[in-house]
Amino acid sequence: MTINVSDAGGRHRSPFRVLARRALALGGAGLVSVTGVVALSGSAHAAGSTLGAAAAGQGRYFGAAVAANHLGESGYATTLDTEFNAVTPENEMKWDAVEGTRNTFNFSNADQIVSHAQSKNMKVRGHTLVWHSQLPSWVSGLAAADLRTAMNNHITQVMTHYKGKIYAWDVVNEAFQDGSSGARRSSPFQDKLGNGFIEEAFTTARSVDPAAKLCYNDYNTDGVNAKSNAVYNMVKDFKARGVPIDCVGFQSHFNSNSPVPSDYQANLQRFADLGVDVQITELDIEGSGSAQATNYSNVVKACLAVTRCAGITVWGIPDKYSWRASGTPLLFDDNYGKKAAYTAALTALGGTSGGGTTDPGTGGGTDPGTGTKTCTATYTATQTWSGGFNGQVTIKAGSAAITGWSVKVTLGASQTTTGVWNGTTSWDSTGKVMTITPSYNGSLAAGASTSFGFTVQANGNTAAPAVSVCTAS
Ligand code: XIL
Repeated sequence: MTINVSDAGGRHRSPFRVLARRALALGGAGLVSVTGVVALSGSAHAAGSTLGAAAAGQGRYFGAAVAANHLGESGYATTLDTEFNAVTPENEMKWDAVEGTRNTFNFSNADQIVSHAQSKNMKVRGHTLVWHSQLPSWVSGLAAADLRTAMNNHITQVMTHYKGKIYAWDVVNEAFQDGSSGARRSSPFQDKLGNGFIEEAFTTARSVDPAAKLCYNDYNTDGVNAKSNAVYNMVKDFKARGVPIDCVGFQSHFNSNSPVPSDYQANLQRFADLGVDVQITELDIEGSGSAQATNYSNVVKACLAVTRCAGITVWGIPDKYSWRASGTPLLFDDNYGKKAAYTAALTALGGTSGGGTTDPGTGGGTDPGTGTKTCTATYTATQTWSGGFNGQVTIKAGSAAITGWSVKVTLGASQTTTGVWNGTTSWDSTGKVMTITPSYNGSLAAGASTSFGFTVQANGNTAAPAVSVCTAS
């Protein structure tokens, strides 16, 4: 579908192809490149075309839990690097991973994630220092005084190794019981050191890396309930007594037994009102299609509505690597195609899809899994010359056949278009936004693609036009 010079001279050329050719001819000597996909990072319009960029536009981060052993998979690394601007090591910083043997520290897997993140300017959430789970048996076997020494040593060694590289640490994870008791969970730390282990861990952590934000992180605390009340009272008490704490993490693992609470935003807000940041730290929502998409949208909107909600981390990238893979709870399908949930999250962040797709070869597909008509729009610059460029938008139907589609293309300041092909154009009153609907190519089988193209006269502005999400009918 790419318009190239020889096509433009072919027998079935449309008037618009002639225009495109003329534009190319005019720019002839200045033709700088004829490329396939042009990455949009760095252009003004790319600002909202990925989760990370859209979140950044709202003053937030959008992160993913990452496993070191997947970083060598190109779809995984490309999706991570394109879409996210924060990471949390999924298992690599846990006690059993870094100090399986007392005082013998192994940071190699966690280091891989941290250096990858640093090379891409991503924030790193450290997860986690003190937790009853994934805890080596040598720790649980210690008597109280030795356990206290071991806990403080663990915090000190791990935080020293990563000093200056961690945005926020989950200092203590999951220290409260589920249910109505509001009590602390039984653990070696709780049982031998008592309630005070939590503040001791925070105090030690502050002394090691004063620049890192220190978080308490838990699940089933996402709405107002007995467990979140207990955490709330602890944070309030810490703030009153000057125990260092900067943030509270809400894991947000949701499914039909544990749905997104209706008071999610209110709960985030009441914690924020205590004077701490709130973070959505391990988001995954089981389900598919529009129901899942709506849940993701609601979670994102709740965070954006709370000024101190610093960011969102999803607990994995493609469904196949989720700790709850059977519930397909993430934003990308197994081939790194963008699910309806992805589009919903991006839209809620104020972003628009179309630019900088993760993997135009295999990804970009929508996978609602419900027979809902959906489509995706992927922008590619097919030719560039000194005075302008040709853009192409590939429309791909999701898992249901469609009979129509619609995409808005917004030209940048000073840009004009000299023609559109394989699509019908209507302009808004500003003369900058064109809505493209099919000319002959509205009917697409499930998963099938078509494309339309246009020529842009740059007039000094070579930024890629913004392409909206695709609307299917
Ligand atoms: C999970 C990981 O995703 C799994 O790979 C691992 O087997 C178990 O732990 N709460 C947490 C996370 O704080 O560390 C957990 O991660 C999920 C629940």
